[in-house]
Amino acid sequence: MTTPIGILLSGRGSNFLALHGAMERGEVPGHIALVVSNVAEAAGLEKAKALRLPTVCIPHRLEPSREAHESKVLTALRHAGVEWVCLAGYMRLLSATFVAEYPQRILNIHPALLPSFPGLDGQAQAVEYGVRVTGCTVHLVDDGLDTGPIVVQRVVPVKDGDTAESLSARILVEEHKAYPEALSSLLSQRWNIVGRRVVFD
Ligand code: GRF
Repeated sequence: MTTPIGILLSGRGSNFLALHGAMERGEVPGHIALVVSNVAEAAGLEKAKALRLPTVCIPHRLEPSREAHESKVLTALRHAGVEWVCLAGYMRLLSATFVAEYPQRILNIHPALLPSFPGLDGQAQAVEYGVRVTGCTVHLVDDGLDTGPIVVQRVVPVKDGDTAESLSARILVEEHKAYPEALSSLLSQRWNIVGRRVVFD
């Protein structure tokens, strides 16, 4: 049996599809046990339903507090037997309480080379700043904003004339490789955290 993975998303869901495809091809020793969206209209939710994966929508706007929303998400993940959580365009910060439920078992993908350009619109930040290279980062999630230990990074050139959109499209191609690669390594190899570093045996 492969590792049960929970996906949290809020939008398009292309990274979720990349992970799903890699699992289906046997490149990642996991399977998707549940897809959770906090946005009812998320295209990723429709894509998950079309694939006949278990899905649940838990809109944060209907909940009185962050704690109440997270508690519902955690209950759904537990019921589905989820052991690892992959954030795939999930536009909510996770509290320390949530992170403690899955210690070093939550992954995120960010569209920049962290620690550069954390937070929203990492691609636009890179264009604005004028860097010549940027990329994407897959990292373990702690309770900070894009601050957890880094697992995989891929570098992408910034071209003259790039807009946030053209750069985003180039980065996304690498995101779809980096995320399955990182998850596969973590699930199939022995590793530990030394300081801030993820060290594979
Ligand atoms: C990606 O750019 C990812 O790096 C960021 O949110 C975006 C999600 O895109 N965290 P998608 O929903 O996976 O297509």
